[in-house]
Amino acid sequence: MDIAIIGSGYVGLVTGACLAKLGNKVICVDNDSGKVSALKRGQIPIYEPGLKELIKGNVKNKRLSFSTSIKDAVKASEVIFIAVGTPDSGNGEADLTGIEHVAADIAINLKSYRLIVEKSTVPVETGEWVKRTITTHIKGKAAFDVASNPEFLREGSAINDFMHPDRIVIGVESKRARDLLLKLYRPLHAPIVVTNIKSAELIKHASNAFLATKISFINAVSRICDIAEADVREVARGMGLDKRIGQGFLNAGIGYGGSCFPKDLEALVSIADKMGYDFKLLKEVKKINEGQKDAIVDKIKGSLWIIKGKTIGILGLAFKPDTDDIRNSPALDLIRLLQREGANIKAYDPKGMVKARGILKKVTFCRDPYLVCRGSDCLFIATEWNEFKELNLLKVKKLLKRPLIIDGRNIYEPEKMRKLGFRYISVGRKDIC
Ligand code: UDX
Repeated sequence: MDIAIIGSGYVGLVTGACLAKLGNKVICVDNDSGKVSALKRGQIPIYEPGLKELIKGNVKNKRLSFSTSIKDAVKASEVIFIAVGTPDSGNGEADLTGIEHVAADIAINLKSYRLIVEKSTVPVETGEWVKRTITTHIKGKAAFDVASNPEFLREGSAINDFMHPDRIVIGVESKRARDLLLKLYRPLHAPIVVTNIKSAELIKHASNAFLATKISFINAVSRICDIAEADVREVARGMGLDKRIGQGFLNAGIGYGGSCFPKDLEALVSIADKMGYDFKLLKEVKKINEGQKDAIVDKIKGSLWIIKGKTIGILGLAFKPDTDDIRNSPALDLIRLLQREGANIKAYDPKGMVKARGILKKVTFCRDPYLVCRGSDCLFIATEWNEFKELNLLKVKKLLKRPLIIDGRNIYEPEKMRKLGFRYISVGRKDIC
């Protein structure tokens, strides 16, 4: 099929490259001409395992191209995905300006039937507005359909998530739209949930809000474990083996971050508010997430006593492993909280340092984890990169001023740390003092 993807950010690029891999002819469009030129030269603006190779291969065999022209893309494609950003507008609501502009631009260029698909995460009822916008701006009599096809991919495993989804959701209002999307996704052999547009929009927000709720739940349980000296990982395993609960997203830590959960949760609270429902549960989920960072600072204070003037080594800046994304990273929030207490910060992340340098002030960025340890008063694990799980801990111990590790991601075994002679403080597990 001939496909256009408007918006070459995270979701747009991964979707475009994967649909090309499935044998479609895809044009990825972006209004940032610098980004489009870079993509044409093979430079990928984000780090995502496997994406560079996938893009390169599909550009080479002419199934994937890049453009700044919505006009050309609309002309060439039967199905047009809108994958532009929907950032927080500052009051919790999603900013849909980009969606409106793109919908109007598509409308102006519509000459014959096109299926316009919302891929960006949008509040319920956006589909209605997209339809109205297209109807307002359309010049001729071309028929069109609007559909919703939310994306559930996770950064760091986006290509695998796209190619092997648990489910595909399509919200449609006509047989033609339904058939086109079923045909497009047939090669993935995944369960396809066909709904109306509003339900599809809500499935995305509700899924992300539910996953965030699971994380806050286990983080709240970790606080009880801290006091009761129970082990949160054992509690999570015992809970998660119940199929009704499931094992995923029960890792206690420093709280969720990233470009989706915080924003989508806010957006759902805000839509609910607008509709007259006070979604108190989700407000509490957010509060627990914020509180988790304060709890971590308290743990650091509890083990260092005075933070002012001490050097804290931080391993991990990205909001999760296998990405260079630092948007809403709890690691960055923690660094700021510690700096406010007067700490000196040394930090390392395998992929996140380039972006972090542009944002963090007064941080010493190090070339490797061991340089972070050298002369630091303690080591704090903020992101669970595999590289950190495989550190030479005896070397770490020698380099640190004192053998103190505060592990915000529970990546080490407390018993092993005790044997190695560390003071080891983790989340929801007995401290090794
Ligand atoms: C999420 C959704 O998973 C995905 O379906 C959607 O399309 C986009 O948002 P992503 O933001 O890439 O994906 O990352 P995810 O793996 O879901 O993690 C989000 C945050 O939750 C990270 O900060 C992560 O560290 C945290 N997390 C995740 C936990 O703290 N504990 C867990 O058990 C799982």
